[in-house]
Amino acid sequence: AAVEKGNYRHFMQKEIFEQPTVVAQTLGSYLRQADNSVALPQLDFDISEIRRLTIVACGTSYYAGMVAKYWFEHFARVPVDIDVASEFRYREPVLEDGGLALFISQSGETADTLAALRHCKANGQVIGVVVNVPTSTMAREADLLLPTHAGPEIGVASTKAFTCQLAVLAALAAHMAVKKGLMNREEEQSVVSHLLETPACLNAALDHDDDIASMAHLIAPARDVLYLGRGQDYPLAMEGALKLKEISYIHAEGYASGEMKHGPIALIDDEVPVVVIAPSGPLFEKTVSNMEEVRARGGKIVLISDAEGLEEAGEGCMATIEMPKVHPLIAPLVYAIPVQLLAYHVAVVKGTDVDQPRNLAKSVTVE
Ligand code: G6P
Repeated sequence: AAVEKGNYRHFMQKEIFEQPTVVAQTLGSYLRQADNSVALPQLDFDISEIRRLTIVACGTSYYAGMVAKYWFEHFARVPVDIDVASEFRYREPVLEDGGLALFISQSGETADTLAALRHCKANGQVIGVVVNVPTSTMAREADLLLPTHAGPEIGVASTKAFTCQLAVLAALAAHMAVKKGLMNREEEQSVVSHLLETPACLNAALDHDDDIASMAHLIAPARDVLYLGRGQDYPLAMEGALKLKEISYIHAEGYASGEMKHGPIALIDDEVPVVVIAPSGPLFEKTVSNMEEVRARGGKIVLISDAEGLEEAGEGCMATIEMPKVHPLIAPLVYAIPVQLLAYHVAVVKGTDVDQPRNLAKSVTVE
């Protein structure tokens, strides 16, 4: 049956709101709620023996991989290489035996990602595929198939596939850590129970839809927007910027907060909104000082943080978006919601074709 928009104005909006459900579905197939354990399909290789991880993807799927790099390093202590597929396939990556190459794709058909997959296969890597279309070419060529259960994604700008990819990748990183003896039973239970809190936290984030809609007119007139994030929230800054440029045609850049002073700070004036993605936590202070640098130049800030962060740094911002206080592991999934909604509502204000933005294709099957 054809997928319908139902009561939503756009597929993208519908898909944003489906995330609590589809992330729960996806987590449900990788985690066991009964005893809070990770339950991956039987692997026919020993994941604890994997010496290097190579992650390759394009677009939004690439940013999911960038978030996962932090998790694989943190939990499983495995060295991770990550690249966009179009670069990976034309450099000379050093692929030694004993490596796992992970390809992340909504469609499973992106030409560059597929070419990179075949290159890795020919060079002795175990091929893992995180994919939303189970009948796709990449799914068929996988040694380790890790499906996301996002359901059909119609909006050209990826939303629910992204958070489902993150759900799978978090489970895989935890699984690897368990198998390597780096995560004991108690730690596994804690990680899994936090992951299982995600759908409720996504719902709490979606509750701010109206607030975000009502601030969209502050961003819509901008010519440029800067997104800042640190650590595992840095890829989200890039994803936020990508979403905004894709559907609202506003030039946007995602930057690591600490790198701002090495370039983008030159752009800041009162016409360049700066969206800061910063849950409270150990690195928050550093982001606050980056915000001060922005403010000192007349920059206008939209701060996305939890109550604690907003209490400390919300004053003087052009706008704030309050997120629930969440465990750092799931923050990238939860903070994906406001960046998606912000791009969505800005595009609606601008009157662009949200589901079919100009010049873009849902799946890029040619080089
Ligand atoms: C296109 C789409 C993006 C998507 C990217 C990668 O550019 O417009 O939304 O993130 O391809 O697609 P994939 O299907 O490989 O995830």
